[in-house]
Amino acid sequence: MPKIILTGDRPTGPLHVGHYVGSLKGRVELQNSGVYDKVFIMIADAQALTDNAEHPEKVRQNIIEVALDYLSCGLDPSRTTLLIQSQIPELCELSFYYMNLVTVSRLQRNPTVKSEIQMRNFEASIPVGFFTYPISQAADITAFGATTVPVGEDQLPMVEQTREIVRKFNSVYGDTLTEPEALLPGNKACLRLPGIDGKEKMSKSLNNCIYLSDTAEDVRKKVMSMFTDPNHLQVSDPGKVEGNPVFTYLDAFCRDEMFAEYLPEYANLEELKAHYTRGGLGDVKVKKFLNRVLEETLTPVRARRKEWEQDIPAVYEILKKGSEAARETAAQTLDNVKAAMKINYFEDHALIAEQAKKYRPAE
Ligand code: TRP
Repeated sequence: MPKIILTGDRPTGPLHVGHYVGSLKGRVELQNSGVYDKVFIMIADAQALTDNAEHPEKVRQNIIEVALDYLSCGLDPSRTTLLIQSQIPELCELSFYYMNLVTVSRLQRNPTVKSEIQMRNFEASIPVGFFTYPISQAADITAFGATTVPVGEDQLPMVEQTREIVRKFNSVYGDTLTEPEALLPGNKACLRLPGIDGKEKMSKSLNNCIYLSDTAEDVRKKVMSMFTDPNHLQVSDPGKVEGNPVFTYLDAFCRDEMFAEYLPEYANLEELKAHYTRGGLGDVKVKKFLNRVLEETLTPVRARRKEWEQDIPAVYEILKKGSEAARETAAQTLDNVKAAMKINYFEDHALIAEQAKKYRPAE
């Protein structure tokens, strides 16, 4: 069985360093690993519209931001198919048939949908499209025959819902769809990078993100203003590294070699943490180091972004070509689905003959 990756993002804003460690970096590694026969990365604009119906312009404007973030992180259109969800109408057809295989109560139990409904104060008036987006996400995943879905923890319920739909479909209509597996980032700090304010999650609305498209100066200011241990008031005070976002970012971004280069008094992060914990190490010093560490990752990303920004029409062309190629794959899956459901009447010569015989049995 071919090994196929599909994953994606909603284009509701530029991507941040949480996206980078939580998914983008891993996707580039998977792309370059040579293990996968195909890699599809989707800009999920239709899904973004499920809770932004009144702000289509926001979604429209952010497609190019996300595409630039992808390319600048090292996703390579000659190896990875970049596509825009709304340009693949087959996904809507698949969703329509999958809807019959999922109950309302099952959707209500989906933990991600539950918490998103709360976050958006949708309790009293949930758009139907939003409520059913896990089904559309199952269409995204199955349309491309994905075996592997690299995602953050918050998307696990979506992959689980997809697996249920696949099992149900295959048991009712015969083996047709591939059951995917989720792939989480290995490093725990990468699972959910906190905001620079120490809040659990980076989020545009909380204004606590470091964006891949931020300038070096923006990043420096944000790092220097980061929340740390509120009880670490003087350099001599013992500090806490757990729940201290500066150290969580270091867990996610820093490698031993970076100490030799930028902070040679310490061999590794363990030594730095030990010093901070026992006292005598100031926040400013740690933050300056973090800024260097972040810049090591972000400088090449920024440089590639600058280049692509010079040729925006080429970026749209990449998305167009990718969407066309993706559509062929999705159309093949839809054909298989319709054949399994026996709603491919005009190709079903046995059906036509059988019906003909029923009405003119003599012939
Ligand atoms: N739900 C994902 C997010 O909010 C985006 C997405 C849409 C996706 N379709 C997908 C992710 C298919 C993985 C697979 O980020």
